[in-house]
Amino acid sequence: MRQKLLVYVVAGTLLWSLVYLLVFVNRPNGSVRRTEETLNSLTEQLADLQNTLSQQNAENRRLLDALNKIADNRAVAAAAPAGLVAPAAGGGATVAAPVIAVLVFACNRVTVSRHLDQVLRYRPDPARFPVIVSQDCGDRPTAEVIAGYGSAVKHIQQPDQSDIVLPAKEKKFKGYFKIARHYRWALSQAFDTFNHSTVLILEDDLDIAPDIFDYFTSTYPLLRDDPTLWCVSAWNDNGKLSRINASAAELLYRSDFFPGLGWMITDKLWHELRDKWPKSYWDDWMREPAQRLDRACIRPEVSRTRTFGKKGVSNGLFFEKHLKFIHLNDRPVPFTKMDMRYLLRENYDPWFVDHVYSCQEVTYTELKARQIGHKDCVRIQYVTKDGFKRTAKMLGLMDDLKSGVPRTGYRGVVSFMYEDRRVYLAPRPDWTKYDLTWS
Ligand SMILES: *[C@@H]1O[C@H](CO)[C@@H](O)[C@H](O)[C@H]1NC(C)=O
Ligand SMILES: *[C@@H]1O[C@H](CO)[C@@H](O)[C@H](O)[C@H]1NC(C)=O
Ligand SMILES: *[C@@H]1O[C@H](CO)[C@@H](O)[C@H](O)[C@H]1NC(C)=O
Repeated sequence: MRQKLLVYVVAGTLLWSLVYLLVFVNRPNGSVRRTEETLNSLTEQLADLQNTLSQQNAENRRLLDALNKIADNRAVAAAAPAGLVAPAAGGGATVAAPVIAVLVFACNRVTVSRHLDQVLRYRPDPARFPVIVSQDCGDRPTAEVIAGYGSAVKHIQQPDQSDIVLPAKEKKFKGYFKIARHYRWALSQAFDTFNHSTVLILEDDLDIAPDIFDYFTSTYPLLRDDPTLWCVSAWNDNGKLSRINASAAELLYRSDFFPGLGWMITDKLWHELRDKWPKSYWDDWMREPAQRLDRACIRPEVSRTRTFGKKGVSNGLFFEKHLKFIHLNDRPVPFTKMDMRYLLRENYDPWFVDHVYSCQEVTYTELKARQIGHKDCVRIQYVTKDGFKRTAKMLGLMDDLKSGVPRTGYRGVVSFMYEDRRVYLAPRPDWTKYDLTWS
């Protein structure tokens, strides 16, 4: 706009000079000498003009820069209180979009590049999704890989590399203590030092789905507005292809089980947890009632993360037997254009309970023997902990419980697919609360 104006001014001045020159030279009584003088002076004037214009140009450029800076500052200032910026032009969304800092945990795996490449490829807007890579372990090759991304990511390194002294019995779990130490430090960096109000936590061994940023953007208002939610996760613990409806990529749930593996929280929760952050097993600690306080996470039917690394602290066997079968969504969903309010507790709970308990109750044997005369949803009831575990195992579901909550469970209900049918493994209809002794 301003550049265009400048071009017009320059063109106009040149044209005027030319007309002036012609008129002057063609004066009827002008002598040759006079014309020469005039030409000389004109050349000088033109040089002057050129000089002035180029000075003007530099001035304009400075002005433009200053204006841009002011505009940027204003956007930052406007963003600061609510953590929001206007969506990028052409984004289609009409509401201000949240700034969600992406905090990637890394240690000693150079394959962090596989993860970071995907993050940078899929994030729709660098300003809305600033990336911080927090590295523990001080591994040089990994640090070099991260440094290779230059200013595209902010590389921070956990400074406390001191040994953690443990009793002999616990020594083999030292890795978990280091992870908890790293998580506390890095979350504090993201929230307390860089002052982000919303953080998406990822890990160096995760593949992510192309629509993961839309997923977290669209669920952010739920997290902000519904005090009975405390996280949004990208992970389905029972997300293997045979147990999900891969066509239902838009399907989301509330879950009482904290899934981790690609999860978003706000500073409000961090302020609650930071002073009591545990020395180890931070994820199971979060699943304890004292931390969870009956709050739920949003989780998808089809995972938006999948772990590709089997080298790490947790058991390689678990990767081989389970994790590697989790299906990563490949059907992008335009979440940000959808109404997500059905996931607010006041809307979700009545519908969910009504829906689950309206499905016909069947036994595992009937389901397996295909003795059900319709294609609609069914429900298998469990009453005891052992009953739950036995049935879950037979159905190929995760059978463990943390603080009484089964993986993916909401109000005790585990949702999954069995041979093209929706099935709910559910407690009795009069369920009121989890039994903490179930583990
Ligand atoms: C030529 O120009 C001079 C002044 O520049 C003027 O005095 C003179 O009258 C002009 N002659 C004619 C013929 O126009
Ligand atoms: C974060 O907030 C604190 C306290 O308000 C302030 O001192 C600090 O400079 C802020 N940091 C950044 C990176 O904005
Ligand atoms: C699977 O998901 C698709 C898309 O949401 C849906 O139309 C279909 O009914 C679902 N199938 C079952 C068995 O629930």
